[in-house]
Amino acid sequence: MTATPDTGSRPIIDVRGVWKRFGTAEVLKGIDLAIRKSEVTCIIGPSGSGKSTLLRCIAFLEEYSEGEIYIEGELLGFSLENGKRRRVSDAEVARVRRNVGFVFQQFNLWPHMTALENVAMPLKLARGIAREDAEKRARRMLEKVGLGHRAEAYPSQLSGGQQQRVGIARALAMEPHIMLFDEPTSALDPELVGEVLQVMRDLAAEGMTMAVVTHEMGFAAQVADTVVFIDHGVIAASGSPQQVFRKDENPRLRQFLQNYFERNVFWQGAEDGAAP
Ligand SMILES: Nc1ncnc2c1ncn2[C@@H]1O[C@H](COP(=O)(O)OP(=O)(O)O)[C@@H](O)[C@H]1O
Ligand SMILES: [Mg+2]
Repeated sequence: MTATPDTGSRPIIDVRGVWKRFGTAEVLKGIDLAIRKSEVTCIIGPSGSGKSTLLRCIAFLEEYSEGEIYIEGELLGFSLENGKRRRVSDAEVARVRRNVGFVFQQFNLWPHMTALENVAMPLKLARGIAREDAEKRARRMLEKVGLGHRAEAYPSQLSGGQQQRVGIARALAMEPHIMLFDEPTSALDPELVGEVLQVMRDLAAEGMTMAVVTHEMGFAAQVADTVVFIDHGVIAASGSPQQVFRKDENPRLRQFLQNYFERNVFWQGAEDGAAP
């Protein structure tokens, strides 16, 4: 749960009527989703339901087929001329999404670079920041995720949880206004999940705007302002964690939740836990 969500203002991300097709396959079928400043939105749903595709469209790693995605009020990827949309240049895409950070399930670190270099490199490449300043900022970000002491380590010398925290530091170094996480803990051994979720909890508590695709229902219950259930490319349920986890009238959602855990156990945990 974050500080007061800024419900009056324009959303950071505004997804309107978005469709995504791969050939004849309709993967997203009219998604509407607004994410406001300092809100945490957790996206849940069965495998293959379109969760990653939605995040990838928001980051324009995929071109959406129909509809509009606005980032802080600016249309992403296209310009509208007489109702017709036209693809804008890659440079223009990069400009509009420059404040969007992305953390993937796979850490995608450069193996031949230290943690520090992994975090500093995009600052130098994408932002043209001088080496010394980039490394200073990178060190600060590593400290933020609890890895100040591992700055000189190579990815192979780090645990999966540490590598993912480097991935988060790398995204944070770009000073994003929103962070997108696509199953950031799914590739981790169970005992390493907690340290990554804790970093994400801390970020949420600081007021970072976040969209998180996750199977960690305890995290969603405790941290999300909004939980969105995606099924077969549509938002089949959404609301506060209480609404979505308690009043699961939607049979597909009920089945999904039952498949994942003993519901009472996780709710018990969420209520006993330090819900701020
Ligand atoms: N590049 C692609 N080409 C064709 N089909 C794709 C591509 N990416 C995803 N899909 C299909 O889109 C559907 C949704 O995938 P995805 O968004 O990865 O689901 P989720 O993240 O919810 O598991 C799946 O059926 C998947 O096979
Ligand atoms: Mg996925």
